[in-house]
Amino acid sequence: AETVTRGDDGVVSVAGIPVTRLAEEFGTPAYILDETDFRSRARAWRTAFGPDADVFYAGKAFLSRAVVRWLNEEGLNLDVCSGGELATALSAGMPAERIAFHGNNKSPEEIRRAIGEGVGRIVLDSFQEIVRVAHIAQELGKRQRVQIRITVGVEAHTHEFIATAHEDQKFGIPLAGGQAAEAVRRALQLDGIELIGIHSHIGSQIFDMSGFEVAAHRVVGLLKDIRDEHGVELPEIDLGGGLGIAYTSADDPREPHEIAKALTEIVTRECEAARLRTPRISVEPGRAIVGPTAFTLYEVGTVKPLDGLRTYVSVDGGMSDNIRTALYDAEYSVALVSRSSDAEPMLARVVGKHCESGDIVVKDAFLPADLAPGDLIAVPATGAYCRSMASNYNHVLRPPVVAVRDGDARVIVRRETEEDLLRLDVG
Ligand code: LLP
Repeated sequence: AETVTRGDDGVVSVAGIPVTRLAEEFGTPAYILDETDFRSRARAWRTAFGPDADVFYAGKAFLSRAVVRWLNEEGLNLDVCSGGELATALSAGMPAERIAFHGNNKSPEEIRRAIGEGVGRIVLDSFQEIVRVAHIAQELGKRQRVQIRITVGVEAHTHEFIATAHEDQKFGIPLAGGQAAEAVRRALQLDGIELIGIHSHIGSQIFDMSGFEVAAHRVVGLLKDIRDEHGVELPEIDLGGGLGIAYTSADDPREPHEIAKALTEIVTRECEAARLRTPRISVEPGRAIVGPTAFTLYEVGTVKPLDGLRTYVSVDGGMSDNIRTALYDAEYSVALVSRSSDAEPMLARVVGKHCESGDIVVKDAFLPADLAPGDLIAVPATGAYCRSMASNYNHVLRPPVVAVRDGDARVIVRRETEEDLLRLDVG
């Protein structure tokens, strides 16, 4: 987060609040989210893309009602991918026409709710769904605005991309073999839907712009084919999310204005060359907005040196509040934040309290050798895909999200209680 400082006593503060006070008031573990940072990142995306484009925040990264209100105030739209995310968005007052509804297997109930509420667009992911959405819209006496999600044959990895003839994964309709063109053909024939554009999302935690550029190039190519075949110029393209953030100092992320400039230039240039009207561009950043804005505050419970190996530092959370290390081998950093220390650095592994040896939060980190039970440590960049992927494994209670701003702290998602757990257990 941007408003982090360290006092003379070594205590770290965020938005002017010492972490020791946050731990006392809200307990640990806790996600501490800097609202000012969130808003300024959201605004940076909005400004970078300007009034002729749309920014849809990807709710899967982290969604709560406070977040929906901030997005609304900052002029962002919202991408949801389930009935639950849709319900959260609507309950916090996001206008339905600014919501995009995603997913590769939306249920008929979800589709009905989305159309009934008047969502701005549904992103169609399969041939079956094209027909399904068209039928439900017709039943409801509506014409639903839709995009078709295609796979452009670009596989984005963290630091590179590999162009493949065919993407072997569950999302979207392949451009290859004319499948995307066939999907467009069918969509244009159905009364219940209005095809407004083509969607492409190439992956996540990407640093290399070239994958986005190849995707933009191929989507414009399809728009041109559609114009040539049907005489129709689709007014929108969505290039998805995926911009990477810095988890450790080794990462060097791109800024929103860089991706805005690259995408706008390539789309404008290629549309001019093809004599196509330039479509309205939209993007769906999740991680890049919320990821850096939060850290997880843990209390150290035990410190176990294993001779010649490393020291295992157990904290009061673990894979239930951050599954990313276990699932993706993700890299995080960690720091002692409740005091200063002059002790030598020791090689440490920060682990959780779960009954599983893969329950690792930070694989390799240096922490002061005098680290002791009761110390507070913080893991930065946990705003995205941590609370949203949190579980109750071992019946561990999910931590709260505490929003800080200008010296104030307030809970925006409260800590789970044993009553919450037991309420669902009706046997
Ligand atoms: N749009 C679509 C259609 C997506 O599928 C995603 C992410 C996004 C936007 C947002 O991508 P972002 O800007 O956040 O990279 N759980 C994984 C990430 C899964 C991303 C899934 N889709 C992780 O923790 O790294």
